[in-house]
Amino acid sequence: MDPRQILRILIVLSGLNGVCDALLCNCTAPHCERDGFKCETNGACVASTSVIEGQEQHVRLCIHKEKLVPPGQPFYCLSAEGLMNTHCCYTDYCNSIDLRLPIVTNGPGAGQDWGPVELTAVVAGPVFVLCVLVLLGLFLFQHHQRAYGHRQRLEVEDPSTEHMFLAKDKTLQDLIYDLSTSGSGSGLPLFVQRTVARTIVLQEIIGKGRFGEVWRGKWRGGDVAVKIFSSREERSWFREAEIYQTIMLRHENILGFIAADNKDNGTWTQLWLVSDYHENGSLFDYLNRYSVTIEGMIKLALSAASGLAHLHMEILGTQGKPGIAHRDLKSKNILVKKNCTCAIADLGLAVRHESITDTIDIAPNQRVGTKRYMAPEVLEESINMRHFDSFKCADIYALGLVYWEIARRCNAGGIHEEYQLPYYDLVPSDPSIEEMRKVVCDQRLRPNIPNWWQSYEALRVMGKIMRECWYANGAARLTALRIKKTLSQLSVDEDLKI
Ligand SMILES: Nc1ncnc2c1ncn2[C@@H]1O[C@H](COP(=O)(O)OP(=O)(O)O)[C@@H](O)[C@H]1O
Ligand SMILES: [Mg+2]
Repeated sequence: MDPRQILRILIVLSGLNGVCDALLCNCTAPHCERDGFKCETNGACVASTSVIEGQEQHVRLCIHKEKLVPPGQPFYCLSAEGLMNTHCCYTDYCNSIDLRLPIVTNGPGAGQDWGPVELTAVVAGPVFVLCVLVLLGLFLFQHHQRAYGHRQRLEVEDPSTEHMFLAKDKTLQDLIYDLSTSGSGSGLPLFVQRTVARTIVLQEIIGKGRFGEVWRGKWRGGDVAVKIFSSREERSWFREAEIYQTIMLRHENILGFIAADNKDNGTWTQLWLVSDYHENGSLFDYLNRYSVTIEGMIKLALSAASGLAHLHMEILGTQGKPGIAHRDLKSKNILVKKNCTCAIADLGLAVRHESITDTIDIAPNQRVGTKRYMAPEVLEESINMRHFDSFKCADIYALGLVYWEIARRCNAGGIHEEYQLPYYDLVPSDPSIEEMRKVVCDQRLRPNIPNWWQSYEALRVMGKIMRECWYANGAARLTALRIKKTLSQLSVDEDLKI
């Protein structure tokens, strides 16, 4: 290896490459097209060759330094036997090589120029491979016998190999467990994501949103949700996948991301986002179908606040996470899990805060999201977009509206109301910005908090939180963490086991 290359690797490993020039790599990803199929990174160039459905595919990408984990044997640099050959390197455009798949070829002419060493290898190789296969077969048989009794122990044995992720008896639960112990904190290795996505069998449509359809799919007997974007929506697909793979984002009250895949079938590209499936569907569907007890209301509200608090929170350190604002919070973008707690979903419009430079990771446009849930300052376009906290405050306003939707369905003392969207009585069914602005900004109206809620401590507290989420002045609103603490206290006072 040339000394410059060794130096570069040492610099990357020591974390000092911030002072060094950025590394230039070849890049085959669609988003690199505008940069002339190249990319820049502080980490490594990667080249990989894989066989997908009998076809060879060559992928070249940049991998950022923080994704080169674990050190020494990063997931992104691993090869998968018979599936993918991967090579990471650390000099400009070093990933232009075409990797061969590790298949022994015996084509015509092979062996003509071989010396005794090669000939011995050719003869001994297959014998060796055969022995390995027999041993592997024996091992797998034994492993299978023991798997039922020793599953837990086997799962944590060697988290750095592809066998760990894709062993035949792995279920979805196992995979998600692997994800939480894999150490990268940002998701499964790309080749695992792709392999999982390509072995899902779609079952039925479960939702339609802005960008396409959401399906229930089956993977190894378990349910998964697949959000399918049309090829026109590639940027939205890429952005949502990117946000879900933010380091340390995983949380029990944020939709669990499993995989992203872009599959080109020759005519068009199918863009998939695979996530945990929640049979209760969205909070909107759930509240339309069921009323909730006081306990149920607190559980939904507290879990939604916990999810939002985690999303908003910046965690410092190498394994930290940036603050993230959702920008489209509403009951249709929150899912209800089997245990009747919430999981915040649809992160396609989210923005991340880069606190070192105090900037936002994409150029935010003024008004995105759902008009009915837009905070007054968003409707008026007076929001200060240079200040990241403004976006968090706008999320809190929307959370207050979601709480109102939940509280109306609370079955306290036998009374509850039918489900309604916020402002159902003040604006038409598909309101324009102007119609919303008149009600929310000019008339300063908010959803009605009935007087009888005062007779029930839980509803009284919920009503108070809502009012404090709806102040016209964003900065005066509660924070998600404050709401979480108030509701945790309420659940203790109400003697709930949450
Ligand atoms: N993981 C999931 N489990 C169950 N239902 C889901 C899941 N993800 C989405 N849905 C359903 O699909 C709808 C649209 O999903 P969403 O992610 O909000 O897409 P869009 O970005 O198109 O709005 C949701 O409102 C919900 O009803
Ligand atoms: Mg949505």
